[in-house]
Order: sequence, then C-alpha cells, then structure tokens
Amino acid sequence: MSFTVPYSGVSNKLGEAEIAAVVDALRSDTLAMGPRGAQFERRFADRIGAKHVQATSSCTTALFLAAQLLGLGPGDEVITTPQTFWVTTWPLQARGCDIRFADIDPNSLTLDPATIEPLITERTRSIWVVHHGGQATDMDPIMALADRYGLSVVEDCAHVPGGTYRGRALGTIGDLGCFSFHSLKNMTTGEGGALVTDNDRYAEMARALGTIHTWGDTVPRREERIGPYARPAYYRDAHVRSSYTVDYRDGRYLVGNNYRMSELSAALGIAQLGRLDELNDRRREIAARLDDGLRDVPGIGLQVEQPYAHHIYHLYTLFYDPAVIGAPKDDFLRHLQEVEGIEIVLRYFPIHLLPEFRAAGHSYGECPVAERTYFEHQVQLPIYPHLTEAQIDHMIGAVRRGVAALSSERSPR
Ligand SMILES: Cc1ncc(COP(=O)(O)O)c(C=O)c1O
Repeated sequence: MSFTVPYSGVSNKLGEAEIAAVVDALRSDTLAMGPRGAQFERRFADRIGAKHVQATSSCTTALFLAAQLLGLGPGDEVITTPQTFWVTTWPLQARGCDIRFADIDPNSLTLDPATIEPLITERTRSIWVVHHGGQATDMDPIMALADRYGLSVVEDCAHVPGGTYRGRALGTIGDLGCFSFHSLKNMTTGEGGALVTDNDRYAEMARALGTIHTWGDTVPRREERIGPYARPAYYRDAHVRSSYTVDYRDGRYLVGNNYRMSELSAALGIAQLGRLDELNDRRREIAARLDDGLRDVPGIGLQVEQPYAHHIYHLYTLFYDPAVIGAPKDDFLRHLQEVEGIEIVLRYFPIHLLPEFRAAGHSYGECPVAERTYFEHQVQLPIYPHLTEAQIDHMIGAVRRGVAALSSERSPR
C-alpha cells in the first residue's frame, strides 16, 4: 500500500554535504578505527557537553556496554519503564538481571518518579530511564533516589540527541547515556550509536570493552621467554592489548566485544551533527503546526512539553479519548491508516506484556497507567523534517475527519 503520509525509513533526507563526507571517507586510507571516528566522538562530546563519548555500532551495543561496565548480573534488580522499545532491557535480561517495571506519566510517557521508590529492594542496583519520543524524563527526583539508595542511572537517549532537561543535555545526567543514530533517529549514521559518560573509569573500561580488548587490573608479565622463544620484538596487535607484557591480577579480567562504528558512519555523523539543531527545530515547528491544528478537537488531547524539557519530537503523540468520541481507539487508527492513508506505527506496546516477560512472571495489571494509555489513548502520527506542508495539513484534516465520523456514528440524528 502506498501512503499519503508514510512512516518513512529515514529520519531526514541527506544533503550534498553528507554525501560528500561519506564519499571522502570511502577514498581514504582506512574504513575502520580511523580519524573520523575519533573526530565524531570529540564533536558529539562537545555538542552535548560530555567528558567522554565512545561511538558504537548501535544504541543496542551501547546499552550492552553499559550493562557490562556497571557489572550487572544475576540477582541484581534494575528498575525501568514498560513504555520503550524492548531493546532497552535486552542487555539486562541477557546478563540474568531481574527487571522491575515502574509506571509512566500518562502524558509524557516517561517514568513517573513516584512509582520507582516502592520497587526498591536491597537487590536493586540501577535505574534505566528512557527519554521517550524526544522528551526528557523528570530526572531530578530520580537522581535524588539514586543518591539516597546508591543506585546507578542509565539514560536510554535513543530518541534525544540534542534534547535537554533543565538546560542540561540528556545523556550527561545519569552515570551513562546511550544514543542511537539508526536511520529513523533524529540524526543518523545509518546504523550507529554512542556511549556517553563523565566517569573516567567507565570511559577507560568502555574504550577497551567496546573494541574487543580485555580489561582489568594488570601486573607485569614475568616470563621473558614464551616456550622456547624470546619475547618478540615486533608484536603490535590491535586486538590483544599488551598481550606479551602484562598479565591480569589474579587472572581476573573482562572480555570486550566489537561494538565499533565504521569510518563511513562517523563521516556521516560529523556532517549530521552540523545539522542537528536545524533538524530538531524543524521537528518542533511541525509539532507546533499539528498542535495548533488539533488543539480544539473534542476527544483529542495534546502532549504537553514539560517545563523542564526541550522536546525534540522524535515522535508526535496525541491522546484519543474513547469516552468522549464513543468508539475504541482502534477504530480511529483504522480510519487514519485505511481511509486517510497515514501509516500508523505505535511506539511502544508495553514491554512487560511481551511473551518473554510474561514467561518471567510479569502480567497485565502491573503498570496500569502504561497499559490504559497504550490500549485506550496513545496515538502517534508520522513526524520527520521532510514532511511537506500538504502532508501536515492532510494529517490535521484526517484527525478531524476521523473524530467527526466516529462521533456521528454514535450520535442519534
Ligand atoms: C528507546 C530505544 N532504545 C534503544 C533502541 C535501539 O537503537 P539501535 O537501533 O541503535 O540499536 C531504540 C531503537 O529504536 C529505541 O527506540
């Protein structure tokens, strides 16, 4: 089916500058572990005011790295939100952690800090927040809880490159921030991500563990000979850090993984960073246009930009009220997609209700606000900077027509 307003597979149309940057990288001496990766990391760090940035192959791999750096493992409990892409919790599940789901604020769709504290036990180690749809989670109360109970905080920043909380860049408030530069994200490197931290030790660990090195406290290696051989004079090997000169204290070390970003992605990322404000501003402009066009529609509520947030509208969310309109939300979504040609993708099905979490004992009723909001109210319209004025007008008209059609089906003539 071809849509009047498709969801779009790219977050923004690339310009000549991006294309030239990638072609330039293609002509260079290396496509991996070269100067562009390092430059992208420095530029991104400067842009968000972070001390350390490690570029990764995705946000997923940045989250895996975060879980490893924090040493989370079996028996540890981590509190997070059910309103996210399930990948937020996958590294935790993979490491055998127990996930506890707090609930969300029904308008911002981010964690409601008041629902976190009752879940804290002596096994709780970390809080993983998700800045949903481009808007900050209310971080101050969460950081206060983390301080009080000695918990780490990870920010899933997949939706928020350039988003802020009380003027501070998202990703720099908790212990670790994980970004995505997937094709659909506000800025893109094709596939890609970044791990951000102000903590020197985490940064050093991430540098080793994100690039298949091993990491641990080292002691000098004593043997001058290896079997019958003298220690080799030339033993530079990018993949085995200091293998002939050091051992790990008590034989204890961590093994990393290849989570690196390629030079092509980094080249694209550098060019996209130069456009990040323009791209985010255009999303804000579109959201304001949609808000203005839909403010007075009975049974349709708007998402409010919280006073502490600079919302960069990775997603544009509306709230449908079935009680006012007199028909279930699915009828409205069907109208938008099937009658109006607007491709509907809802982000996200509450993840505590996914099969693997149900198998682990989670069930309906655990996060009542997230459940009610998702099943009854939450609607998302496509948003990206290359939406045309005609597409924006079409969406405003489509919502109005859908509400009118469903309301008139109910009202007796
Ligand atoms: C909230 C959230 N976290 C993590 C990810 C994973 O990002 P990536 O595709 O870069 O691994 C996504 C991607 O959609 C996401 O939306």
